Amino acid sequence: MQTRRIGDEQISAIGLGGMPMSIEGRPDEQRSIETFHAALDAGVTFFDTADAYHRDADEVGHNESLFARALAAYGGDTSHVLVATKGGHLRPGDGSWTLNGSPEYLKKACDASLKRLGVEAIGLYQFHRPDPTVPYEESVGAIRDLLDAGKIRYAGISNATPERIRLSNEILGGRLVSVQNQFSPAFRSSEPELELCAELGIAFLAWSPLGGISKAADLGTAFAPFAEVAKAHGVSPQQVCLAWELAKAPVVIPIPGSTRPETIRDSVAAVDLKLSAEELAQLDAA
Ligand SMILES: NC(=O)c1ccc[n+]([C@@H]2O[C@H](COP(=O)([O-])OP(=O)(O)OC[C@H]3O[C@@H](n4cnc5c(N)ncnc54)[C@H](OP(=O)(O)O)[C@@H]3O)[C@@H](O)[C@H]2O)c1
Repeated sequence: MQTRRIGDEQISAIGLGGMPMSIEGRPDEQRSIETFHAALDAGVTFFDTADAYHRDADEVGHNESLFARALAAYGGDTSHVLVATKGGHLRPGDGSWTLNGSPEYLKKACDASLKRLGVEAIGLYQFHRPDPTVPYEESVGAIRDLLDAGKIRYAGISNATPERIRLSNEILGGRLVSVQNQFSPAFRSSEPELELCAELGIAFLAWSPLGGISKAADLGTAFAPFAEVAKAHGVSPQQVCLAWELAKAPVVIPIPGSTRPETIRDSVAAVDLKLSAEELAQLDAA
């Protein structure tokens, strides 16, 4: 498995995103656990979750608990696994997503995530999304306090602008290890953040790397060059998409969501798919 770096950890270049296993339209738990185990079998050592990945109001942390159970139930070695979670988003249960970036809330949320994940320190804790009602410095200040208190091993942010990446790194005393932003053929406006992460040597975790749960299957239809390159290599357009993202910079780690063993296996194979400079240019222009 090709690896990339988060902090001082070498983790799989493709991670697994847990959101589709826990929100609306999720599969039964058995299938999710099989998918998680298929990812581990394929060499995935990076898993992305959030306390807000749940459907109903009374099941906060559904995905964190699922990940913890799946990890504990795996027969093989999991010592190199890094589980990343996030705080700052909430789901009241009516399908909406709300925000709370207050330091008090983030610290409580982190304690609850620690319990659900069953660890002494969270591998990577990410501030999920800026809350316009709370000064950004205060939210990131809470993440710094959690780092200083040893409750989290690494700190990250999500949905950030270049200015906020620089600011967060400053607040964290140079200890910002990752930025998780949306990036896919349909959503390329995070290029400046990706480039800044490459410059600073900070991991760039591409979320919804295939265009999101409802659009991932149609990637090859919506972006024909991805289907063309896929046909030439005898692989899926989704695999080409992940290989294209990996080729953007050595700091990029796509985190495709998956609810089936076959899709995560297919995604992982992207690490071995070599695209020519000509193909990459063709995809850039798609
Ligand atoms: N930080 C944030 O604000 C934020 C926001 C959204 C998402 N995220 C994170 O990013 C992760 C990924 O985003 P996402 O799940 O929204 O969208 P996505 O990864 O673009 O798409 C997920 C869908 O892609 C399908 N898929 C995966 N690999 C495939 C393959 N090789 N071939 C064909 N289909 C494939 C899966 O289908 P099957 O279900 O059939 O396997 C899944 O439903 C989330 O799980 C979450 O961890 C973060």
